[in-house]
Amino acid sequence: MIEIQNINKTFNPGTVNEVKALCDVTCTIDEGSFVVLLGTNGSGKSTLLNAVAGNFLPDSGKITLDAIDITRMPEHKRAKYIGRVFQNPFSGTAPDMSIAENITLAAKRGLHRSLGWALPKTAIEEFREKVRPLNMGLEDRLDSPIGKLSGGQRQALTLLMATWLKPKLLLLDEHTAALDPKTASKVIQLTKEVVEKEKLTTMMVTHSMQQAVNLGDRILMLHNGRIVYEFNGQEKQRLKSNDLLALFDQIRRKDQIDATTADMIGHLYI
Ligand SMILES: Nc1ncnc2c1ncn2[C@@H]1O[C@H](COP(=O)(O)OP(=O)(O)O)[C@@H](O)[C@H]1O
Ligand SMILES: [Mg+2]
Repeated sequence: MIEIQNINKTFNPGTVNEVKALCDVTCTIDEGSFVVLLGTNGSGKSTLLNAVAGNFLPDSGKITLDAIDITRMPEHKRAKYIGRVFQNPFSGTAPDMSIAENITLAAKRGLHRSLGWALPKTAIEEFREKVRPLNMGLEDRLDSPIGKLSGGQRQALTLLMATWLKPKLLLLDEHTAALDPKTASKVIQLTKEVVEKEKLTTMMVTHSMQQAVNLGDRILMLHNGRIVYEFNGQEKQRLKSNDLLALFDQIRRKDQIDATTADMIGHLYI
């Protein structure tokens, strides 16, 4: 279970570039829950994931993961508990190392080096079995450097590595946004399978309304650094992508009205 309590983060405080990226964000995510994060560009989705992963320390608030206070824990220590996949297929893997070597690293995360670096045979078989249904040819390329793979192959591989040793939390930040639709849907299918099989607690950012309605058991919608809508249980299951699009329209209209009102007030006082 992850508890995010009153997290605040302001970038460039006190300057003209000040951005309140997260304002008092609070939410509890149950063990095994798959949460989809939606929101307009710049609404704070990546910042929230980064706060949880420890890219920076929040200005205030508290984050606990399975009752461990991780608020001030360095990023590399949290990495033992947290698996991540980013939008950019070039993040998260060592490009000059082969697929097999990358998997070895993932499979031995947190283990003592004296246990040796050889990839266990069972891990190779497990890997082959997991990637064969994707029809991406990964199972025959174990000795290829990761840098030679396509974006889709890399994202599938990064996902498998991030989940190899069951993480307490899986963070996915638009991990299919850079892929063509066919490859994206393969990676989404793999995501669904691994999350269900391992019962992973997951936070996934996406721009796709279709992914948001098809995946997960909960939706959180952010806007201006706050959680503005939330859908759980049956309400989430009944939700259609058009409902979500209507909400986005509503948010945009309200922003326009707010901007116009601010403009008018500005004029009144000038
Ligand atoms: N490292 C940073 N430095 C300054 N501003 C940032 C930084 N990271 C994010 N921001 C700003 O914080 C806001 C939220 O960004 P982000 O969380 O990346 O949005 P989203 O992922 O929802 O598109 C944006 O206005 C963005 O420009
Ligand atoms: Mg983002």
